[in-house]
Amino acid sequence: MTARLFETLTLDSLTLENRILIAPMCQYSARDGEATDWHMMHLGQLAMSGAGLLTLEATAISPEARITAWDLGLYNDGCERALARVLGAVREYAPIPVCIQIAHAGRKASSDAPWAGGKQIPPEHPYGWRTEAPSAVAHGEGEVPPHALGDADLKRVREEFVTTAKRAVRLGIEAVELHAAHGYLLHQFLSPIANKRTDSYGGSLANRMRFPMEVYDAVRQVVPSGSPVWLRVSATDWVEEGWDIEETVELARMLKQAGSPAIHVSTGGVSPKQSIKLGPGYQVPYAERIKAETGLVTIAVGLITEPRQAEDILAEGKADAISLARAMLYNPRWPWHAAAELGARVHAPKQYWRSQPH
Ligand code: FNR
Repeated sequence: MTARLFETLTLDSLTLENRILIAPMCQYSARDGEATDWHMMHLGQLAMSGAGLLTLEATAISPEARITAWDLGLYNDGCERALARVLGAVREYAPIPVCIQIAHAGRKASSDAPWAGGKQIPPEHPYGWRTEAPSAVAHGEGEVPPHALGDADLKRVREEFVTTAKRAVRLGIEAVELHAAHGYLLHQFLSPIANKRTDSYGGSLANRMRFPMEVYDAVRQVVPSGSPVWLRVSATDWVEEGWDIEETVELARMLKQAGSPAIHVSTGGVSPKQSIKLGPGYQVPYAERIKAETGLVTIAVGLITEPRQAEDILAEGKADAISLARAMLYNPRWPWHAAAELGARVHAPKQYWRSQPH
């Protein structure tokens, strides 16, 4: 019997060869939003992994939407050309379906790279700028508060999501993930911790979901109907009075109605006060609950490191796919080893024919 992990998964018209997804991972190695040779190396090795889907790192819809000045972007022709070069080369040799995570960092933008401390860079600094968010509430103590988005800004940001999605479609990218997790802009709208608006975009759950849903609908319209568009969400803020799993289930219901075939379930990121209970597969129960209550295809992520652990999550019906970040950096042939362990096969480049996993 085929391991669940190595069964195909069909999302709209896109069929993935297995249920191992590579999670988005920011590299902070772009120049003016443009992918570099680092991306060629990084994505090149991941593309040969035998995974079912390769998700590009959080990709900014505008320069202001970047977490750092070194984030990948897809907001002008230069960004599009640079990404076309990298994807063209990678896919010529390793034809893996690619998903793009489209992102706006909101009040968590204008930061330093994590290896340089990750702190906010003030707007007057060459690598800093004034951030924008649902409300003029800073993320961390002592940070410059963001500009609260007005009606015209909301329209602009929606259009920036759409324009980036159109560029992704032109690049032949097969799936779109909208980043609504980890305390970035769309999550900031969802969470009462960051969203203090008193207009139709704040307050009630329906109001807080409004902007992310508008963005979803607008992007859905410009992506060809067979190509899936889904959200990555944080299912809890890990803070009292924050966004929680009950609200996430409601959001998942709305997304399903709006035509989303899946949801990628992470947690946290909106508040420095979060207290996360870490452990193997610590976020899986959130994916499980969303799957049980909505029937939506769920992608579980977070400290999934072992093939048997991944297989059990799927076999026990807790999720439909798993996504891996650190495990893929640690072992970029993780899917090969998982295939060997679980008695399955993955595609590997023909050049490596002497060592095909089986
Ligand atoms: C991340 N993560 C992340 N998440 C996201 O939604 N967009 C991103 O661009 C990034 N960037 C990123 C970079 C690096 C180097 C790491 C390690 C992580 C979070 C990641 O996708 C994942 O959710 C977590 O790392 C938990 O999964 P693992 O690492 O336990 O498999």
